[in-house]
Amino acid sequence: MDGTKLPKLQATREFAADPARSYTLPAHLYYDPAIFDAERETIFYRTWQYVAHMADLAEPGSYVTTRIVDQGVFVIRTGEGALKAFYNVCRHRAHELLAGHGKVRSIACPYHAWVYDLDGQLRTARGSAEVEDFDRGEFCLNEVRLEVFGGFVFVNLDPEAVPLAEQAADLLAELGEYAPWAAELVHGAHIDFDIKANWKNVVDNFLECYHCPVSHPAFCDVVDVPKYRSITGNIHSTHMSPVRVGGKESLVPVNPGDEVQCGRFIYLWPNTTIVMFPGARNISVLHIKPDGPERTLESMNFYFTASPPTEAEMAQVKYIEDVLNPEDIEICESVQRGLHSLGYNQGRFVVDRNRTDISEHALHHFQNLVRQALGEDSGV
Ligand code: FES
Ligand SMILES: [Fe+2]
Repeated sequence: MDGTKLPKLQATREFAADPARSYTLPAHLYYDPAIFDAERETIFYRTWQYVAHMADLAEPGSYVTTRIVDQGVFVIRTGEGALKAFYNVCRHRAHELLAGHGKVRSIACPYHAWVYDLDGQLRTARGSAEVEDFDRGEFCLNEVRLEVFGGFVFVNLDPEAVPLAEQAADLLAELGEYAPWAAELVHGAHIDFDIKANWKNVVDNFLECYHCPVSHPAFCDVVDVPKYRSITGNIHSTHMSPVRVGGKESLVPVNPGDEVQCGRFIYLWPNTTIVMFPGARNISVLHIKPDGPERTLESMNFYFTASPPTEAEMAQVKYIEDVLNPEDIEICESVQRGLHSLGYNQGRFVVDRNRTDISEHALHHFQNLVRQALGEDSGV
């Protein structure tokens, strides 16, 4: 034994611009800690990250916290009614300030009770009057870029980032067409999942319906899977399928009079999905949050026209919570184990010229964005 590692059986092949010719991303990108570190810097610290829907931040003092890998951030509505985002850290000795979501009159640190106004100004620092040259103005909360996009609040740690409305102008126009009511919805339900898989593995699974007839029998009763189509945009892809007519009774009841007769499953780079199930007006946002090279936390929030949700709306939540997402999570965790196999390095994209329901071109679109973001680190 000379201590060198046994290599993968297949050498890495080219990731091509044409999905029909390309190999998939090499397996090590899905578990190598060095790749995860590179992604944190080049992807997650520099892209627009979903935080909340406008309805979650309706009143002065309403706040929502989030984590961008290891960076805590919160968004809050100020006394003047503006939305602001800050790093969730006290400027005294770094205690975190806010947890979860809720409503406050001011931001008080749980450690030594420094108090900040809703706009991030340091109001009081107990005992600081005795401190030489103490300048309260020097210890305001550090602000983070914020943008409201189609009724949703996003933040970006990169002060130089191109606005989301510019990067995803095509998606904004699309949402304006089929969901101009998105901003008017209210919060209905929340579910969480903890997945033993890399975040890209979870995104990959969202981006094709090739697996639907095999893995999601009940989904095939809700939408007409042979009519499923995926269209790629600049930094998003939209996947849509009309409601299934004349099939057996589905777990998500849809009436012919319901406004949404087409399921839409939108992926927005790098880790947000915006979903509209057939039925009454609804949007659910699935936020795919990386928490290490091989762990991903998913949080999903559902928005409906009124609160509490109707029976049909709760049926949708229960279907996703108990059936659809567990089906996908089992797949992702199996794939995660498989990616470590010395007998697997890369596969091919199953794509067809007509971009039919089984075509994996949107998966290639996403993996290409990853490859571009990682540059030479991607090794392909
Ligand atoms: S760390 Fe916040 S008041 Fe001391
Ligand atoms: Fe799936």
